[in-house]
Amino acid sequence: MLLAGGIVVGLVLFLRPPAQDMPPLTDSFTEPMPQPEADGRLLGHFPYPLAHGADLVEVIPGRRLHGDAAAAFLAMKRDAAEDGVQLRLLSAFRDRETQHNLFFPIMVERSQRPEERARVSAPPGYSEHHTGYALDMGDARHPELDLDEAFDQSSAFAWLQQHASRYHFRMSFPVDNGQGVAYEPWHWRWEGSSHALELFEQARRFNAATLTIH
Ligand code: DAL
Ligand code: ZN
Repeated sequence: MLLAGGIVVGLVLFLRPPAQDMPPLTDSFTEPMPQPEADGRLLGHFPYPLAHGADLVEVIPGRRLHGDAAAAFLAMKRDAAEDGVQLRLLSAFRDRETQHNLFFPIMVERSQRPEERARVSAPPGYSEHHTGYALDMGDARHPELDLDEAFDQSSAFAWLQQHASRYHFRMSFPVDNGQGVAYEPWHWRWEGSSHALELFEQARRFNAATLTIH
């Protein structure tokens, strides 16, 4: 009996395809991911390279940004504080694995199609957070508004709208953006160097063009 059981287990293990041939976990629960568009976009999101580790600096424990964006953020935070506004850094650089874990498990848990998940989260490889130049901000006095559309009612958001461009920060996903990503008043990207400008050039042009069409 024990021997027969051992043979069955052995056979199953033998016949099972090796790990690399097995379909990705997500395909067993949801529709497969579509292919990127001719311009590189996948589900509305442009592809982005990962920041080099050596370019990243820790702004607060566990939150890293490209050194240039970090300096701009800290200057902006200091000046906002002088105006009585407390900016809080909620999310900064994210690697592909982190983005993968934000995208797929939640999509599966909520039984969403990739298109639905991509309205609020970029697929791995396609997040501005990969560059080290994008960040999510909150109002330290109103944590209940963190990562919520109602953040746009906070004094932190009012201050950002008025002053962030002086520090070369731009809101990436305004209401009705051409990329079809949900409104994210908390998500801003830094465009203050030629490197950062180049990385976001395609997204900037695309959104400007779609704005004109509206
Ligand atoms: N929430 C934004 C779109 C991202 O995941 O990069
Ligand atoms: Zn973000």
